[in-house]
Amino acid sequence: MRVLGIETSCDETGVAVYDGDRGLLANAVYSQIAIHAEYGGVVPELASRDHVRKTLPLVRQVLAEAGLAAGDIDGVAYTAGPGLIGALLVGAGFGRSLAWAWDVPALGVHHMEAHLLAPLLEESTPAFPFIALLVSGGHTQLVDVAGVGRYRILGESLDDAAGEAFDKTAKLLDLPYPGGPSLAGLAERGDPQRFRFPRPMTDRSGLDFSFSGLKTFTLHTLNEELPRAADREQTRADIARAFEEAVVDTLVIKCRRAVRESGRRRLILAGGVSANRRLRERMDQMMREEGGEVFYPRPGLCTDNGAMIAFAGWQRLRAGQCEPLAFSPRARWPM
Ligand code: KG4
Ligand code: ZN
Repeated sequence: MRVLGIETSCDETGVAVYDGDRGLLANAVYSQIAIHAEYGGVVPELASRDHVRKTLPLVRQVLAEAGLAAGDIDGVAYTAGPGLIGALLVGAGFGRSLAWAWDVPALGVHHMEAHLLAPLLEESTPAFPFIALLVSGGHTQLVDVAGVGRYRILGESLDDAAGEAFDKTAKLLDLPYPGGPSLAGLAERGDPQRFRFPRPMTDRSGLDFSFSGLKTFTLHTLNEELPRAADREQTRADIARAFEEAVVDTLVIKCRRAVRESGRRRLILAGGVSANRRLRERMDQMMREEGGEVFYPRPGLCTDNGAMIAFAGWQRLRAGQCEPLAFSPRARWPM
């Protein structure tokens, strides 16, 4: 079975084809960064309009790259939520129309489930069951995964998601959108010993997170340190580093706790923040200490892409799942 996947939940248009026998046949992502950069964040209306422009050309491109014709596709999966509703409607509209024209089933996929399954697209895949840490711009969740569709949320952020905290803190540091990678870049030059930021909610039991306080802590530190800094650039880098250390350390502490409490020996990371180099290093080290293994998607499959949507859709379509004609996308949608 061959499934076309369409991702349009935020600021990336992603289209891919996944084949049950041959794996990923083509995967193209168009990033809208240049459009949103001058506004310092995603402008929903501009995002929707650009998805309208880019989706069909990307469909044509991946079909050509995969050497396929329309009749070779057995199903169409599109992101049905959560995400920006206007952006979701574009992918849903194109996806369902193509499926109708090609006379194949269409299926709306949960964006976070797609992130969660993305590590299974890699060569070395984790066997079920495992613990998943989902860290994206909109969500931070620890999930116990018994199999496809068998998810139990163990903990989640009570306020900002980890990626959101990166993005908002990057703005405080006058860094360009998208904030996560810019902040990580600045932190590379920072001294980890100079400032110590709090590790929120780690001193009590439980697996929930809270990241909004770290952004306020950053603001206070900037206001206090920058006016008297001898080297302002170094101070900004040191603050970025302290912030990154605090987020990474908090995520590692909670993952260690989830692994110990659940007895699971495998951990996966997914979502945009799982592309963070320091986070990956620290998780590797922690799971070595725990005698387990950690799995990640390649960086291009950590951030939003069509491959994970095609793959999640393939998993569900081959299990015989279908959706009613009246199905509509949802901006908010619990997994
Ligand atoms: O999964 P994703 O592409 O979109 C959502 O589903 O939200 O995640 C985007 C988030 C953004 O907040 C971005 O700043 C963050 O992932 N991100 C990173 C890195 N790369 C992307 N955060 C920290 N370090 C990175 N290297
Ligand atoms: Zn995402």
